[in-house]
Amino acid sequence: MNIYKTLLTSALLLSVSIVLSQQNQSNQLGGTEGYSIPHLKKQGNATQLIVKNKPYLILGGELGNSTFTSVENMATVWPKLKAMNLNTILAPVFWELIEPEEGKFDFKLLDDLLLEARKNNFKIVLLWFGSWKNSMSSHAPAWVKTNQKRYPRAKDQNGISQEILSPFGENNLQADRLAFKTLMQHLRDIDGKEQTVIMVQPENEIGMLPSARDHSPLANKKYNTKVPEEFINYLSKNKKVLVPEFHKVWSKNGFKTNGTWEEIFGIGEHTSEIFMAWYFAKFTQEVISAGKEVYPLPMFVNAALNAKGKKPGEYPSAGPLPHLMDVWKAAAPSIDFLSPDFYNPDFKYWNDLYVRQGNPLFIPEHKFDHTVAGKAAYAIGHYQAMGFSPFSIESSVDPHNEPLGRMYDLIGQLTPLITKNQGLNRMEGVLLDKENIGSIVRLGNYEFTFNHSYKLGWEAEAKNETWDMAGAIIIQTGNKEFYVAGNGFYVTFKNIKDPNLKVGILKVDEGVFENMKWKIIRHLNGDQTHQGRHLRIFKENYNIQRLELYDYE
Ligand code: DGJ
Repeated sequence: MNIYKTLLTSALLLSVSIVLSQQNQSNQLGGTEGYSIPHLKKQGNATQLIVKNKPYLILGGELGNSTFTSVENMATVWPKLKAMNLNTILAPVFWELIEPEEGKFDFKLLDDLLLEARKNNFKIVLLWFGSWKNSMSSHAPAWVKTNQKRYPRAKDQNGISQEILSPFGENNLQADRLAFKTLMQHLRDIDGKEQTVIMVQPENEIGMLPSARDHSPLANKKYNTKVPEEFINYLSKNKKVLVPEFHKVWSKNGFKTNGTWEEIFGIGEHTSEIFMAWYFAKFTQEVISAGKEVYPLPMFVNAALNAKGKKPGEYPSAGPLPHLMDVWKAAAPSIDFLSPDFYNPDFKYWNDLYVRQGNPLFIPEHKFDHTVAGKAAYAIGHYQAMGFSPFSIESSVDPHNEPLGRMYDLIGQLTPLITKNQGLNRMEGVLLDKENIGSIVRLGNYEFTFNHSYKLGWEAEAKNETWDMAGAIIIQTGNKEFYVAGNGFYVTFKNIKDPNLKVGILKVDEGVFENMKWKIIRHLNGDQTHQGRHLRIFKENYNIQRLELYDYE
């Protein structure tokens, strides 16, 4: 009896101390009910998004720009999103609707969005369509748009006004700042407890067009004054770690630390872009810090990627692009990370540029095409990404059979394993097509050679001119134990620690994770492993397999 009493007392004490420590944490972070508010946390070399005290992986999709403008319009959308196994939507809120009259705020649409998302069990990444949306200021309220004296516009090199608010207008900044702060205040009040909104993206695809910089009188004045000391100090302090493209630009005039923009960086469009990036980022910093003052959710910015070979001004210039990473980081330390939007195919190239300097990867937009399923697996497996999100997600015509949905199902099942192993060199991802037929991955003592399953020539589509993209995630869970998931590949093995040893399959099972427990559906051998030669998942068969290897002489 006594032992039970002692056990009961210690259990009670333990639970009280857990609650207390959670409350302390939540007090610090402003959360409620024992939960810290969503925040970012490092694990090894990965950055995790923590939601309700647990790492969260975004299996996302971004709504088309005008989709959530009424509850009715969403009625047919939610079932589609569920069918595709999403857990998060990226959804915009519009300055013009939130503050239709100066100082008068209307949050009805946002409130509806939150209620609907909760009812349907989705989290939200909120997009603030404020001063800029795809370079333009189309979402500014009418009282801003129609008063250009008070809210000045950017001008091109011919002095022609654009429908782009100038980042040099102090009234522009104060108006956006106040609107965003009020939005975040409202969000904290209605969502601080429930935490449906887990991150915020202030502005959208900031970028200057059709010239590389703003040529309004306010901008010209700044352009001809000295580069702010704050920027120079950052560059000097971080000289060794600047991205090579930027380092090269600064080196041209001998790493000058005093002078105007042109004196330091030289004459040319590249300098116009650097100048503009600094002031866009400064403006964004002010907006973000005002929002974080009241509700410090993680906040990131996104960029329209520049097409190769185009000059500043020919693409939306000065946004949070990889070659301007240092400028954005110097000017806007409150931004948690920079993100790429993909509407061109060079997935690996751009991601490699974005993950420099420890910038965490989250892909808020990708063209919703036939490549997204493989890329979701690759981004999460290889780049340890926080999540993935194709654009205009509701446009799926067959959501129950959507490849992305099938891949999200697998990633959803694996989430506890993925988040446990993120950043610890125990997880990898693979992306294969006809141009990239094979890929080598090393985990622990083993090397895995992944090949596109069409290389076997056993599937009819192998004869096609182009090959569908295939993607895989592999996670090491023991010395010789791995989980492999995805579609369209086969994989063979080598021992890299002792190359004299050969490697065979001890066991392969196909299964599912149900409530985080592994349940075997099929034991795979014989033809299904090519008599022990490989592990394989054909293009049409999305699944998870548990692999156990052994070595032999
Ligand atoms: C990128 C933008 O960020 C989205 O809001 C949308 O306009 C898409 N482009 C359209 O392709």
